Amino acid sequence: MTNTGRDQEPETKAVTAGRDASGALSPALWASSTWDTTDVDGTNAGAKSVHASGFYSRYGNPTVQSFEHAIAELEGTEAALAFGSGMGAIASTIFALCSTGDHIVAQRNCYGGTLAFLDGPCKRMGIDVTYVDGRSANEFVAAVRPGKTMLVMAETPTNPHLDIVDLAALGAIKGPYTMVDSTLATPLGQRPCSYGVSLTMHSATKGIAGHNDATLGVIAGEKDLINTIWSYAVLHGATASPFDALNGVRGIRSLGARLRQQSETAQQLAEWLSTHPAIKRVNYPGLASHPQHELAKRQMRWFGSLMSIELCGTTDDARRLSQRLRLVRSAVTLGGPDTLISHSTSSTHISVDPAVKAATGISDTLMRVSVGLEAFADLRDDFAEALA
Ligand SMILES: Cc1ncc(COP(=O)(O)O)c(C=O)c1O
Repeated sequence: MTNTGRDQEPETKAVTAGRDASGALSPALWASSTWDTTDVDGTNAGAKSVHASGFYSRYGNPTVQSFEHAIAELEGTEAALAFGSGMGAIASTIFALCSTGDHIVAQRNCYGGTLAFLDGPCKRMGIDVTYVDGRSANEFVAAVRPGKTMLVMAETPTNPHLDIVDLAALGAIKGPYTMVDSTLATPLGQRPCSYGVSLTMHSATKGIAGHNDATLGVIAGEKDLINTIWSYAVLHGATASPFDALNGVRGIRSLGARLRQQSETAQQLAEWLSTHPAIKRVNYPGLASHPQHELAKRQMRWFGSLMSIELCGTTDDARRLSQRLRLVRSAVTLGGPDTLISHSTSSTHISVDPAVKAATGISDTLMRVSVGLEAFADLRDDFAEALA
């Protein structure tokens, strides 16, 4: 709260979120995997504890908990649970909530790793999945099978197409749990749980940690649900490392400034690329030409660092572009300080069925661009030269 009673802006909260009462401005790095529990009774109490630190780091670790508290504060939820990666968060949450014979409604147009997990391990375990087009809220509702559907999963904006899911419509679905992968937006870009969504998930490897030096995932939601998921996650073992959690907290401190800068530069670059004759289409929710621009404006504070571009030509043109760019690097993450380009069909969506790729617009000439912290003029000149 400010001294006028107004709730602080998210950028301000990010500077202190998760801080404890010790007076330290930065959390301590607790590398210890275990704690002295004194005697049999202490060990017994630790083994029965839920999501607590002071026993064994897979159960809970003070540095990881600083990160979890920071995320819960920013998402406006009671609790959060960190994992060793975004996929660790997705896999653990699905297996915590779904059993053989259960049903999931998921978005067809989303991150390739999520699709691979749903089509591989989930199918193998007898968990049935119905895919929908996330751009239509009605499709999520219509696919729910009362009593059978345990989880409705959405991603917004989507990787790599930047489609938007209506958070209010998703949050209104009652019965199954709802989960939103909010990685591209970050906790300062949107807050899905404030719309009634049960769980918000992030690959914190991306914009949250923000410096390409952590592999980290997190979910946020009500305490009881997070504890239920913890009871499975502690056995699944996709535990966050304290060092990555420390980098996660450090990233959160500067997330406001980075996200604002990246969103502004991405907007300029998207507008400039949209006018270039070698580019067929630019997908960025900040563009007035984006089919869901109005919805994005309603539910997002910033449009984020990620866009995708559809080149004129063939795969060879995509290859040549990646070879000719000098400042912009070819690498497969997003949300960091460097501007990166990647060919979705050869990377994030490599294991996705070609028919599904065709149906969801993952073409041979679709390139994902994650805008970093360089000056717009330098990025524009790099693209201008490479596209010429
Ligand atoms: C939207 C989205 N969700 C989840 C993931 C998986 O995250 P991680 O690589 O941290 O496992 C990614 C990775 O690119 C992603 O882009």
